[in-house]
Amino acid sequence: MKRLIYLDNNATTPLHPQVKEVIIEAMELYGNPSSMHSFGRSSKEPINEARNKIANFLGATPEEIIFTASGSESDNTVIHNIFWNSLDAKNSSKNHVITSSIEHPAILHTLKEYEKKGLLSVSFLPVDKYGTISTDDVKKAINKNTALITIMAANNEIGTIQPINEIGEIAKENNIYFHTDAVQAAGKISLNVKEINADFLTISGHKIYAPKGIGVLYVKKGIKINPLVYGGHHEKSRRAGTENTIGIIALGKAVEVVGQEMEEENKKLLFLKEKLKKGLLDNIPDIIINGHPENSLPNTLNVSFKYIEGESILLYSDLEGIAVSTGSACSTGSLEPSHVIMALEPDPERAHSSIRFSLGRENTKEDIDYVIEKLPPIIKNLRNMSPLNKNY
Ligand SMILES: Cc1ncc(COP(=O)(O)O)c(C=O)c1O
Repeated sequence: MKRLIYLDNNATTPLHPQVKEVIIEAMELYGNPSSMHSFGRSSKEPINEARNKIANFLGATPEEIIFTASGSESDNTVIHNIFWNSLDAKNSSKNHVITSSIEHPAILHTLKEYEKKGLLSVSFLPVDKYGTISTDDVKKAINKNTALITIMAANNEIGTIQPINEIGEIAKENNIYFHTDAVQAAGKISLNVKEINADFLTISGHKIYAPKGIGVLYVKKGIKINPLVYGGHHEKSRRAGTENTIGIIALGKAVEVVGQEMEEENKKLLFLKEKLKKGLLDNIPDIIINGHPENSLPNTLNVSFKYIEGESILLYSDLEGIAVSTGSACSTGSLEPSHVIMALEPDPERAHSSIRFSLGRENTKEDIDYVIEKLPPIIKNLRNMSPLNKNY
């Protein structure tokens, strides 16, 4: 019987049932949180509570939490601020940024735009064959103008976890700001901004069972942030716009439950991921596992299926009710091979044939059994039709 199986949780997650409940309650709160009357206060109080929960989740203080509309906005806020600082006459030479070649487009495209215009100079560090950044490379890339190191905590396509604690330490020793995009790591790795030595950290609601349209930027106390959008004095004048009350309350609940469930969930996800990996390796020849074999998110498995295009696997899997992705969701519609797989090895065929399976809290053992049953014949049929295939 055809089932519906969602294995695209790195693109976005369904709402956690407890998050859904608080959303329904929060829909009654229409007062503007900035209004001083009782309607306003009824909205403001749960926002404060959510801010406390998120601060607690990250080992931060509530004043260090800024609500944004997305992970992309949080990432952009950091980079634009680094550029604005570099315009400051006193620091005008501090215009160098260190990042990795496998960051999310919210970091990569923003930095490339500044680089193209000659406004920032950027070191895009390579990764090894598992997608790990070398801390030696980070040290070597530092120069007297380095203003920011921005390295993601875990990669969205292959799940590889980066040595962010060490990188944070290096940044601190060299008096350089450190930002980590923890959008995919949040809820799967415990994050403590003090241990990471982070000056900035990004998370996004819709990757951790909260709705879309809500993000967080942690900014270490003492660092001045200019808003991307000017207006009222919301978020202590660091991000204007009437608060997304429902999204904020939902995210507060999400981090609370995800924090409580993380240990158990991670065990289950890792079991399912390993089962899927073994099932694919045992039943399908000529595949490559992309990403680190151990130091990787427990829910993310990225596989290249030689001789065929990821897009055709995605479409045929979808016909069987299985939802997976090629590259990152944001690249859908682009014919460019995944920049992440290309960074592991510059082989367009490997990159074009990659599929990401990203598991979530709703997946079961039966889901994985179903995928292991349905995928091998799909791959076999596609290989039989493939002009690249010499063996099938
Ligand atoms: C690592 C990473 N950073 C940033 C983002 C962007 O987050 P948002 O969709 O909230 O803008 C994503 C989304 O895929 C991501 O995976």
